[in-house]
Amino acid sequence: MSKEIVLSGIRPTGNLHLGNYYGALSKFVRIQNDYDCNFFIADLHALTTNPDPTQLHASVKTILAEYLAAGIDPDKATIFVQSDVPEIAEMYLLLNMHVGIGELMRTTAFKDKARKALGITATDENDEQIEREIIGNETNKRVNAGLLTYPTLMAVDILIQKATKVPVGKDQLQHLELTRRFARRFNSFYGVDFFPEPYDFDFGGAPVKVPGLDGSGKMGKSEGNCIYLIDEPKVLRKKVMRAVTDEGPQTPNSPMSEPIANLFSLLELTSTPEVVKHFREAYADCSIRYGDLKKQLAEDILAVTTPIRDRINDILGNEDYMRKVLAQGAEKARERASKTLADVREIMGIRKF
Ligand code: ADP
Ligand code: TRP
Repeated sequence: MSKEIVLSGIRPTGNLHLGNYYGALSKFVRIQNDYDCNFFIADLHALTTNPDPTQLHASVKTILAEYLAAGIDPDKATIFVQSDVPEIAEMYLLLNMHVGIGELMRTTAFKDKARKALGITATDENDEQIEREIIGNETNKRVNAGLLTYPTLMAVDILIQKATKVPVGKDQLQHLELTRRFARRFNSFYGVDFFPEPYDFDFGGAPVKVPGLDGSGKMGKSEGNCIYLIDEPKVLRKKVMRAVTDEGPQTPNSPMSEPIANLFSLLELTSTPEVVKHFREAYADCSIRYGDLKKQLAEDILAVTTPIRDRINDILGNEDYMRKVLAQGAEKARERASKTLADVREIMGIRKF
């Protein structure tokens, strides 16, 4: 039986952090034997926010090196760059004929990005203000058409590979919902049973949430609270030693504040059960010294990241290898993409004779 098709993409907008590693990458590595895995770098999606070209060039390279260094095996999974598959761009044009401007404008991610670009504060009621600003103000070129049609492009990434399992973060579930809607709409408009409907990948168990070091919330690129896989030991130690704590437990078995619970979450991800137990007991009997906890945590994180960091640097020094991986990946990705595109063209009535 053929394996189920898994696809996931990441925008090349910076280095990968521990959240990406535990929340996504390490899981990708785990499933690459059992599924037909496709992991790609969404450089066309990155263009929607008009990045600096030099940075974009560099970022595609580092993300590729980080994927490989984390253990994604190019002989098991297909690793490619979105723009290396021109079929995606053509199908994006075709699918857009079946996508409504209204439904795109109502997408949460679009509204957030448009608000940011327009300098409008977020409320539930300012949708009309966004519309007025976009339509009425010619100077607001930052809300570009690519940003609006972001979900079409993402749907094409998925549908062109006929992927059915798409591991994504919570913020991307709405895009996945739209993808299913577009697939159903296409199938019913043309009376075909062509696109399968993709769903989020359920890895089983509770989803991992890697917290930041700033006391609350999750680790994230835009929060500025990240430990990067590529961080030098000195930088990493400093970040951990500076993590927010509290004044310490005053009475035995007192409840934990969020910053301390976050440190324990990180410890649980990276340390041995014995180490975790030791510090939990020390917290419970009020003998804990947060400095010791942080020192231990920094070393345990380093034990995870150092081998990855070494491999990242090796791979970055070997451009021939990276080029080979991407050429092989593009070839595999294009094989299925060109077949789907040819069928879509025919279904939609593009000249055949
Ligand atoms: P960021 O929030 O830094 O911009 P992305 O949204 O690009 O990261 O996330 C890429 C992948 O990494 C997603 O699958 C997401 O679920 C996962 N991820 C990101 N941050 C975390 C986190 N703090 N904990 C768990 N998973 C995370
Ligand atoms: N939009 C996704 C993000 O910002 C990245 C992405 C683009 C993607 N195309 C995709 C993810 C296809 C999964 C499948 O994180």
